[in-house]
Amino acid sequence: MEKSAIIVKPDGVQRGLIGEIIHRFERKGLKLVGLKMVALDDALLNEWYAHHKDKPFFPGLKAYMQSYPVVAMCWEGSDVVATIRKLVGITKAREADPGTVRGDFAMSQQYNLIHASENAEIAAKEVKLLFNDHELFEWKKMDLDFVYLPDEKK
Ligand code: CMP
Repeated sequence: MEKSAIIVKPDGVQRGLIGEIIHRFERKGLKLVGLKMVALDDALLNEWYAHHKDKPFFPGLKAYMQSYPVVAMCWEGSDVVATIRKLVGITKAREADPGTVRGDFAMSQQYNLIHASENAEIAAKEVKLLFNDHELFEWKKMDLDFVYLPDEKK
C-alpha cells in the first residue's frame, strides 16, 4: 500500500496536538507504520525544502523547523497521500476548510501544524529521508477488512 510522510511541526508539538492528529488519522482507517520524535538537521531540511530554497521565507522556515523537536510519522493506506492532504487542509491555515487539521486548529501560513507529503513520488523520497528501514513496521491491522473492500486494498 502507499505510504505518506507526516511531520507534526514544532507548533503542533508545542500546542499539544500530536495526539489529536494521530487520533484523526487512526479514526479515518489509516495504518501507522512509523513514529518517532526527531530534531531535523540542516542537511535534511535543505533537501526536504529544496523547492523553497529561493523563497524569501526559507531561512525563517528552516529556523522554525529546527526550533524544537518534531514528530515524524509514516502512514499507510490506499491513496493515502491524497487522503491525508484532504485531512490536513491547505497551507494558509486560516483559510483551510473547517474539519481539516489546519482549518480547526491553526491560523498561520507558517505555523500550520503539520507537513504532509504532496504526491506519491515525493512521499517515497520523504519516507526515506525520515526513516531507516528498521524503523518502518509491517504488521497486520485486524480491522482492515472492515475499512476496505478486497479490491480497494492497494
Ligand atoms: P508546508 O506546505 O507543509 O511546506 C512548506 C512550508 O513553508 C509550509 O507548510 C509553511 O510552513 C511554510 N510556508 C509556506 N508559505 C509560507 C510563507 N509565505 N511564509 C512563511 N512560511 C511559509
